[in-house]
Amino acid sequence: MEIIILPTADDVARTAADAIEEQVRRGPSVLGLATGSTPLGTYQELIGRHRTGGLSFAQAQAFLLDEYVGLPAAYPQSYHSVIRDEFTISVDFAPDAVHGLDGMAEDPEAEAARYEGLIAAAGGVDIQILGIGTDGHVGFNEPMSSLGSRTRIKTLTRQTRQDNARFFDSADDVPDHVLTQGLGTIREARHLLLLAMGEAKAEAIAAAVEGPVAAICPASALQLHPHVSVLVDEAAASRLAHREYYTDTFGRKPAWQGL
Ligand code: GLP
Repeated sequence: MEIIILPTADDVARTAADAIEEQVRRGPSVLGLATGSTPLGTYQELIGRHRTGGLSFAQAQAFLLDEYVGLPAAYPQSYHSVIRDEFTISVDFAPDAVHGLDGMAEDPEAEAARYEGLIAAAGGVDIQILGIGTDGHVGFNEPMSSLGSRTRIKTLTRQTRQDNARFFDSADDVPDHVLTQGLGTIREARHLLLLAMGEAKAEAIAAAVEGPVAAICPASALQLHPHVSVLVDEAAASRLAHREYYTDTFGRKPAWQGL
């Protein structure tokens, strides 16, 4: 894992956008997109580079991490709508190049299998953006998710429903169930970008990065991946024991290495 501590949330967004831009400019790419507040700055940055810097997504495909069960795609809170409104509608993905899970599928298991097949058929994800929940979840893999899990239905914890209540009228309106890529699925992406900003994420980041690999902190599964960039602001890094080492290492990194 490479832990990169940046002064502000804007720096996190810019650095994440740099990595995505580099991938997209390399040729046809498969992007893994996350929802939540965390990647919004990155999406804004990419939209800006599309509008003024000629960055094109016309050759790219995208896969969403997760979706609420029981919310039609047209609902504003569905991740399908959120990713369209916050990012994809403002750039130039080809029609049908942005894929999501169908939260209304009658057979969630078949839907999960279809989605895994679609990712495989696209050649796998080149670069995956990830946020982290306050309980250490990634995607919607709540604590005790199998570290080898595949796309499947999960039940949200009360804490996650509370955390996500701000997007709904109340916590009671947050669906109980979700479809999410599994930790095993996510770990097959070739490059993982884990982003976190703010003090509220500091504990989860410390557990994910410096704690043991354990299902109680699903994001700790990323320690098993060969190419993970953890981009955090000072506040999200505040509980890391080895902050100085990470900062020193990044400061002396040869420029040619990239992320
Ligand atoms: C949701 C999403 C995750 C996201 C997490 C954190 O549960 N399924 O992908 O990382 O929330 O959200 P936020 O970025 O808003 O803090």
